[in-house]
Amino acid sequence: MPAAFSCRALEKRYGSTRALAGVDLHVERGELVGLLGPNGAGKSTLTKIACGLVRASGGEAEVEGAPAGSTEARAAIGYLAELFRFPGWLSAGELLRLHQRLTSSDGGARERDELLDLVGLGDARATRVDAMSKGMQQRLGIAQALVGAPRLLLLDEPTSALDPIGRRVVRDLLSELKGRGVAVLLNSHLLSEIELVCDRVAILSRGELVSAGTPDELAQPRAVEVETADGVLEYPRATRDDVPAIVAELVADGHEIFGVRVRSSTLEDAYLEAVASR
Ligand SMILES: Nc1ncnc2c1ncn2[C@@H]1O[C@H](COP(=O)(O)OP(=O)(O)OP(=O)(O)O)[C@@H](O)[C@H]1O
Ligand SMILES: [Mg+2]
Repeated sequence: MPAAFSCRALEKRYGSTRALAGVDLHVERGELVGLLGPNGAGKSTLTKIACGLVRASGGEAEVEGAPAGSTEARAAIGYLAELFRFPGWLSAGELLRLHQRLTSSDGGARERDELLDLVGLGDARATRVDAMSKGMQQRLGIAQALVGAPRLLLLDEPTSALDPIGRRVVRDLLSELKGRGVAVLLNSHLLSEIELVCDRVAILSRGELVSAGTPDELAQPRAVEVETADGVLEYPRATRDDVPAIVAELVADGHEIFGVRVRSSTLEDAYLEAVASR
């Protein structure tokens, strides 16, 4: 079975700007992949190519094995753009109805109610977009992306306007979708959020994929520090598993040990390192 999304040697040039410089990435079915990277790294460009909104300059992009932008590919995706603006005069329910028409969803009122409940807007069915806070609009945007039960969800910074509770709602929602087998490609600058929710993380920098792996793989342990009477001894790259041997050796050499600390790097360290080395 082809991956939910895959791209190979993907390139995009806007005039002299190289937004993507040969990116290989895949998102398995039901997998939640976080796409990180500094401003201008090419995250939105990649997402727009996956949607068929932007044409690649080179390489391949496929959704469930169909070329990105084809009718089959578009039928499989749901998308929330980074900078979106819905017509202010529509109510939440009307907006979802419009998108049901656009996606030929026959889910009716039941789908609309279910989606609004899912994003915590159950009480805002009749509220007009104009009268919604930014965070409410963003949650409505996520509900809109879910119209027609897509199998691949492309979310470009879906929680940038949300308060901590709203982010929690979206995180729980993403876990719930994963349970239902929906694949998600999530662009975000919120490292802690990515760490909590994503199966895998890919880091883009200047249009290139500079690091990829599970959050745990990226946030590798970095050193063991041992506090002795002679000061703190550092064992670079040692892990928790090395602690007994290190301690045994030091004790055998006559050292007194007052403390041991396993220093691990966070996803933020890994990110800064991957991006700074470019
Ligand atoms: N329509 C466009 N025309 C010209 N250049 C563009 C266009 N869209 C994006 N770019 C350029 O392509 C590069 C990648 O932009 P992109 O929006 O994909 O980055 P991003 O990783 O999503 O950044 P951010 O975190 O700020 O959203 C940038 O240098 C940007 O200026
Ligand atoms: Mg962007």
